[in-house]
Amino acid sequence: MTATYEVRGQVAVITLSNPPVNGLGFETRQATAAGINRAESDAAVTAIVITGAGGAFSGGADIKEFGSPKALAEPNLLSLIQVVESCSKPVVAAIHSVCMGGGLELALGCHYRIAAKGTKVALPEVKLGLLPGAGGTQRLPRVLGAEVALNMIVSGEPVLSEMLAQVPGQKLFDRLADADLMEAALAFAAEVADKRPLPRVRDLKARCANPEAFFQFARNMVAGMSKNFPAPLRCLEAVAASVTMKFDDGMKAEREGFAALMVTPESGALRHAFFAERAASKISDVPAGTPVRNIAQVAVIGAGTMGGGISMNFLNAGLPVVMLETKQEALDRGVATIRKNYEAQVKKGKLKQDKYDARMALLTTTLNYADIGHADLVIEAVFEEIGVKQAVFTQLDAVMKPGAILASNTSTLDLNAIANFTKRPQDVVGMHFFSPANVMRLLEVVRGAATAKDVLATVMAVAKKIKKTAVVSGVCDGFIGNRMIEQYGRQGGFLLDEGCTPAQVDRAAEKFGFAMGPFRMGDLAGNDIGWAIRKRRYSEKPGLRYSKTADLLCELGRFGQKTGAGWYDYLPGKRDAIPSAVVTEMLDKHRAALGITPRKISDEEIVQRLVYSLVNEGAHLLEEGIAQRASDIDMVYLSGYGFPLWRGGPMCYADQVGLFNVVQAMNKFAKNPLDDAEFWKPAPLLARLVAEGKTFS
Ligand code: NAI
Repeated sequence: MTATYEVRGQVAVITLSNPPVNGLGFETRQATAAGINRAESDAAVTAIVITGAGGAFSGGADIKEFGSPKALAEPNLLSLIQVVESCSKPVVAAIHSVCMGGGLELALGCHYRIAAKGTKVALPEVKLGLLPGAGGTQRLPRVLGAEVALNMIVSGEPVLSEMLAQVPGQKLFDRLADADLMEAALAFAAEVADKRPLPRVRDLKARCANPEAFFQFARNMVAGMSKNFPAPLRCLEAVAASVTMKFDDGMKAEREGFAALMVTPESGALRHAFFAERAASKISDVPAGTPVRNIAQVAVIGAGTMGGGISMNFLNAGLPVVMLETKQEALDRGVATIRKNYEAQVKKGKLKQDKYDARMALLTTTLNYADIGHADLVIEAVFEEIGVKQAVFTQLDAVMKPGAILASNTSTLDLNAIANFTKRPQDVVGMHFFSPANVMRLLEVVRGAATAKDVLATVMAVAKKIKKTAVVSGVCDGFIGNRMIEQYGRQGGFLLDEGCTPAQVDRAAEKFGFAMGPFRMGDLAGNDIGWAIRKRRYSEKPGLRYSKTADLLCELGRFGQKTGAGWYDYLPGKRDAIPSAVVTEMLDKHRAALGITPRKISDEEIVQRLVYSLVNEGAHLLEEGIAQRASDIDMVYLSGYGFPLWRGGPMCYADQVGLFNVVQAMNKFAKNPLDDAEFWKPAPLLARLVAEGKTFS
């Protein structure tokens, strides 16, 4: 049963009952409509209350149904609302906890609404690139006025019921319940049982003082803020229709807007990302309900760039952290950096002083391994050298209590080798954070050959607790994200060899939507880091083609922003990237030495080579089982590498372009003598998908 029916006194109570959030799936809609019909035909019933079981009134559409024919099967949400609104007996929505999307639209179709305090109310459809399609854009302005409704619909953000109850002239809530919502709703229903005519939101007028000026102003604002997303403007036009049109015409305008948005690639990408995030938290052979280990105390080895940021995540979540270093100065520096970060937040008003104090009180430091043995989870973030890692993990093996989880933040080293430095490889796992670790959402959870399933389940739960998007990766050089970015970086180098300037490549990448092009990114991260990695990597792969430009740059000491010069010049204390005459000269000389006549390269070719290199390497990762699913790769790129959200990640983007087209372009690039023909051979999985007319998803 997905909605229950009972009669209390003379009031019929329909309780939506579809865990976890009473999503309005087909069976729930059917049962709700049946409940209304039953109450209509029962002479003993004088009024109806609709509420939700458990922790929500209703969270809206049932996401399990998304995109399936069931989502539209009758009664669809529109027809259910019609049944409710045209009911001859008063229908009261008893709203609590969560009332979002279709749930709010259903409540707006009721004749009356009574809400518990603390209810989160929202129309979040815009976050999936859509607009509320069951009357939300037409009814919400009628009860809250155009301005408040517009803000809610365009932002998709939840607002608390007690805030909305204060909107002057609001008709969203007839009453706010102080104590027992159900008691209050039943009493209210009895009170209004005989009142006629029944009030309908559709009969109200949407308040707006000066519609023309208001919507023009709002249009400019929204257009400026949502450049690459069509949904917010469509939402605005639908809300405008609620003011300027009759209800039924407004509903028609809403339908048209919804249908138009549904087929945009942006909405496709946002919906893809929504499901990708949920999918990423699942590991195929680690079932939900796998017992997790208790993590109450964390230790971090190394108080450098990463160790400090990693520690902050746990302090923020209220977990005590002990940081271990080899020297007191390093500890002092690490703690000072953490303080500086928090103090900046306090200054900006983003963190209260007492919270800051509480977080710092959770932090202790030590030079002695004996002080960390009791920790449940230890994360190593020391120098990226296998010898140093060996020394640390040998120590950890000696002191950590049985059952403790031993994690490494290594970005390139072999996690299996690290695990084998201990006598408990089952307890060793990779937790690869991204810099700055207290800010970046991505966490690659690296699964070693021996990593125990409950260790994986625990780390995934820990990730959730510290608000990270965790994606599982198998062991390989660079894991998912950095192994792919290496190919992207190599293409950047070839593009310079052939005639591009760094600024031209960055501009094209940024126009595509990357937060930062590859060269500005290199200058920010430090070009010396890549230099060190290349020295190791390319010595392991003799004969591999790559551009020498990045090495030449480092030989000039141009490591990026930290040295005031990199691919670009930087003024002291400034971050603006200024094209550099030194780099231009370096590139000219380099090309001349190789006998290359520079050619003009289109932005289209630049973007294709950068993005398709990610796609092809991603396909290899899938085939090798390093990544579990294509959408995991997309999550890595959306949450850790600044890939444009509205394109859904590299694999989703490739699906949208069409894999056939992607391979056609790759075949063309393979013919370029200055590129790497071997690399552009389509990964076997990619070739197979094209042959079978399939997509990654
Ligand atoms: P860092 O050089 O800023 O910090 C390393 C810290 O470890 C130093 O404070 C050092 O004193 C300490 N340390 C060295 N040997 C130690 C030992 N035996 N015992 C205790 N402490 C020791 O380096 P960073 O950037 O924080 O990198 C640390 C790890 O994180 C490396 O494995 C790196 O590959 C990885 N990583 C770095 C990222 C970055 O963007 N910097 C991103 C992701 C991972």
